[in-house]
Amino acid sequence: MIRSVIVGCGSYLPERVMTNADMAEIVDTSDEWIVARSGIRQRHIAAEGQTTGDLAEAAARDALKHAGLEPADIDLIIVATATPDNTFPATATSVQARLGIRDGAAFDIQAVCSGFIYGLATADNFLKAGQFKRALVIGAETFSRILDWEDRTTCVLFGDGAGAVVVEAQEGAGTSDDRGILTTHLHADGRHHDLLYVDGGPSSTKTVGHLRMSGKEVFRHAVVNLASVINEALEATGLAADDIDWVIPHQANKRILDGTARKLKLAPEKVVVTVDRHGNTSAASVPLAMAEAIRDGRIKRGDMLLLEAMGGGFTWGSALVRW
Ligand code: ACO
Repeated sequence: MIRSVIVGCGSYLPERVMTNADMAEIVDTSDEWIVARSGIRQRHIAAEGQTTGDLAEAAARDALKHAGLEPADIDLIIVATATPDNTFPATATSVQARLGIRDGAAFDIQAVCSGFIYGLATADNFLKAGQFKRALVIGAETFSRILDWEDRTTCVLFGDGAGAVVVEAQEGAGTSDDRGILTTHLHADGRHHDLLYVDGGPSSTKTVGHLRMSGKEVFRHAVVNLASVINEALEATGLAADDIDWVIPHQANKRILDGTARKLKLAPEKVVVTVDRHGNTSAASVPLAMAEAIRDGRIKRGDMLLLEAMGGGFTWGSALVRW
């Protein structure tokens, strides 16, 4: 059977680092409060004029280099973002043009913080169906542009960045020993729109709007939904929590990561954590964390990776991947 094998992973973070102390100069907050409630110590913020497309392109080039491939080898580009450069066309088409790719398909996916998992699952299904051979799946965000910088309950939690993977169709035996994406699981429950949303849009207010969140409610749903979608992935593959080498979660909040790991009896040292330095970068957080753990040698060839995320909608999902 065809397996979608992740053959390269890359990332990009904007240069400017904003610490909690910097944040305390803008809103009534403190390093102690932010660290205790979220585990975040700093986040990266895109420069004036630097767009999601810029970040996505840099991460894509890094992933291609890591894979040892050229842009021309790619025939599908998926950008997961809630902060596109324009309402249309898709940021993916801008990335395609910048990379000098003239053919294949390119589109954006909007599933907020779950966007990368949604994008990966979409690419996996296209590759398994034989429609494309090599996909770039990118999570890229400039959440700093949709934050209400006067609302201390939200602006301290998010950051900008991009991560990308190259996924290639390869022959596999059809067992869990195969390299590549072994299973993906996606969910949505649109009844929870009002718990995490942006209060603007082209068709409603004709503005971009600002992020609004009921933090406590999001927290409660996150731990329950993430534990359930992780169990679903394990059941689908017949694997146990002990078979997972690395958990690569969406980096929303250290307390959500700890709560989910505890619920599933996953060893905390197996959880890749970047939220302390990146904040919540929405769709970019999973590939950013993955790239970091590959680069520093923690993730080794053959390791079993569990990717998971939850975001606005609500949307949530998981993917089991053998690296
Ligand atoms: N600095 C100082 N004080 C603050 C700040 C701040 N930045 N923000 C809120 N407070 C105050 C509140 O005003 C409140 O004060 P009060 O008691 O006088 O009213 C107090 O701190 C407690 O506020 P709570 O909202 O009850 O704090 P809580 O413990 O719930 O933590 C948080 C808030 C961190 C947002 C938490 O609910 C959370 O992590 N939720 C998950 C949200 C999340 O991670 N979303 C990411 C997007 S979704 C996703 O990616 C899964």
